[in-house]
Amino acid sequence: MDAAGLVEAPLEEADLEEVCAIERASFGTPWSRGLFEEELRRPGTCVWRVLRVPGAPAGSRVAAYGGFWRAVDEAHFTNLATRPDWRRRGAGRRLLRLLLAEARGLGCVRATLEVRPSNKAALALYTSEGFEAVAVRPRYYSDDDEDALILWKRSLTPTRPT
Ligand SMILES: CC(C)(COP(=O)(O)OP(=O)(O)OC[C@H]1O[C@@H](n2cnc3c(N)ncnc32)[C@H](O)[C@@H]1OP(=O)(O)O)[C@@H](O)C(=O)NCCC(=O)NCCS
Repeated sequence: MDAAGLVEAPLEEADLEEVCAIERASFGTPWSRGLFEEELRRPGTCVWRVLRVPGAPAGSRVAAYGGFWRAVDEAHFTNLATRPDWRRRGAGRRLLRLLLAEARGLGCVRATLEVRPSNKAALALYTSEGFEAVAVRPRYYSDDDEDALILWKRSLTPTRPT
């Protein structure tokens, strides 16, 4: 199955065990379950979506998840990750597009996020979806002091095909 067969849904508490396992597999400083629980308590501000594998057994239901914070008319992306065995099958791009459309529907007009310059996969995904690097936050990542690139997508208005 490729990412087109995955099912979009809001993140729920029942997803958190799998989401935290993907966090640990994906990031040096993974978010804790408590942090995700806090996010789920603020649905007006914190928007989270998952892509689920239809019919999969418990433990392998979540293929990808991601979220953003609404800050007036801006979407601040927090996390986006694909389960390792689902990578390079289109799930990250599908989820990013879904989240951008959600942000647009909520009245956001631009979006931003931070990414490590060494994270070539994420950078390729974001730039191919219209994000541009505009600044550097020196030594942003506390685990290894790597800088962060600050990316913005300046307009969430869909571009018309020419
Ligand atoms: C970044 C990430 C979310 C991409 O998810 P994915 O489901 O593999 O992404 P997709 O299959 O939709 O690929 C989308 C694009 O990303 C880029 N990409 C993905 N993996 C890549 C890799 N290993 N190397 C280079 N480019 C890559 C490509 O441009 C790809 O488009 P293409 O397939 O047309 O070439 C995934 O690698 C991941 O979870 N990484 C760990 C967590 C992380 O770093 N999150 C981002 C934090 S800012």
